[in-house]
Amino acid sequence: MIWKHMTKPEIKDRVYKALAENRNYDSDYILGIPGTYLDTEQFHRDADFLEDAPFLRTFINNPNHIGCHTLTGDEGEDMFRGTQKIEVELIRMISEEIMHAEEKSVDGYVAPGGTEANIQALWVYRNYYQKQYQAHAHEIAVVFSSDSHYSFYKGANILGIRALNVEVGEEDRKIDPVHLQKRLEEAQAEGIKYFIAIANMSTTMFGSVDDPDEIGEVFEKMELPYKLHVDGAFGGFIYPFTDPSSKLHFGNKRVNSMTVDAHKMLMAPYGTGVFMIRKDWMHYAATTEASYVQGLDYTMVGSRSGAQAVSIWMILMTHGPRGWKNTMERLVIETDKLCAALDDMGITYFRHPSLNIVSMHAGQVPKKIPQKYRLVSDNFGAEPKWWKIVVMQHTIGKVVDQFIADMRAELS
Ligand SMILES: Cc1ncc(COP(=O)(O)O)c(C=O)c1O
Repeated sequence: MIWKHMTKPEIKDRVYKALAENRNYDSDYILGIPGTYLDTEQFHRDADFLEDAPFLRTFINNPNHIGCHTLTGDEGEDMFRGTQKIEVELIRMISEEIMHAEEKSVDGYVAPGGTEANIQALWVYRNYYQKQYQAHAHEIAVVFSSDSHYSFYKGANILGIRALNVEVGEEDRKIDPVHLQKRLEEAQAEGIKYFIAIANMSTTMFGSVDDPDEIGEVFEKMELPYKLHVDGAFGGFIYPFTDPSSKLHFGNKRVNSMTVDAHKMLMAPYGTGVFMIRKDWMHYAATTEASYVQGLDYTMVGSRSGAQAVSIWMILMTHGPRGWKNTMERLVIETDKLCAALDDMGITYFRHPSLNIVSMHAGQVPKKIPQKYRLVSDNFGAEPKWWKIVVMQHTIGKVVDQFIADMRAELS
């Protein structure tokens, strides 16, 4: 077990040891790179509180985690090896202990966010089809539910591949296998031969969850080549803890890569998306021209702060597996409470029972409410059909209770 609860002093000790293993700009001879510690006028290196603030200390020391360290290991960039080892441990912790991968069977890195992690997946698979099948970009399509995040349209646009959205079922808002088959038949008729399938481990607007096996079976029955990526940007740090029957993990052979965002449910700072893919795939995204980077670069982002990986590692270690499960279960209980109140008021909504998103049918929500509670609509440019609530740590108790009271008052 890599993932366990650690005390504050243990966490501090581990991070400070990692920093000592890094080359440091103020104590080593570092002449060849365009990087240094953060500006000393703005960021005080000697402030006393930094002795007790491992994340801020890492941030100020400014280690660069360029590259993919699960892949290159000791061959990779060696200046910041101490904190890079924490990132390697982090990817193992998430892929193996949350997402059921076999030991050291997954590569990954901390990306700026879910958008990049999703596009990284599309990039790897596009290059794979081009290299292994001599495919043209316009013969490759990313296939996703109509509730999916817009990063798939963005990625298809950047990479020159096709974007195919598939209708969802009315009741469960999952990719509907009948619609999927129909869409794939149309795609074949349009000359599309290679597919990247997306399964949502919770959509942004509804918290709906796709079934990777239902999706995979349609491609397999039609004998179409596909690779399956799970978008767990929203649900990656909650759904595995609240739905024990989840099939969205590396224990499922159909799942080849995943996105999970720590800057959503894990409460990490922005800049903490996580991309993970089974071994022997990352090389399809190698930029061989990155010859000045020791170990090459396999990521979209290039230079990135090692502090982001350290922040995710610290949060996971602070809570430990049991503590984190309790925290996520608490959110689901609070969401149950909200839904019970909405039922009582006769308000209809969509909600997955293991998640913390509630999307109310817009027509029933009193006018004052969305603005006061900063609810998010499905379409800010037009008449909304849905208003969405996300039950987060800061909303437990006070905000949810006030919302319920205001709704009751407005409706009466
Ligand atoms: C399901 C899903 N995928 C991807 C993203 C994109 O994440 P980011 O904003 O971190 O790029 C989001 C963001 O809300 C999301 O909900």
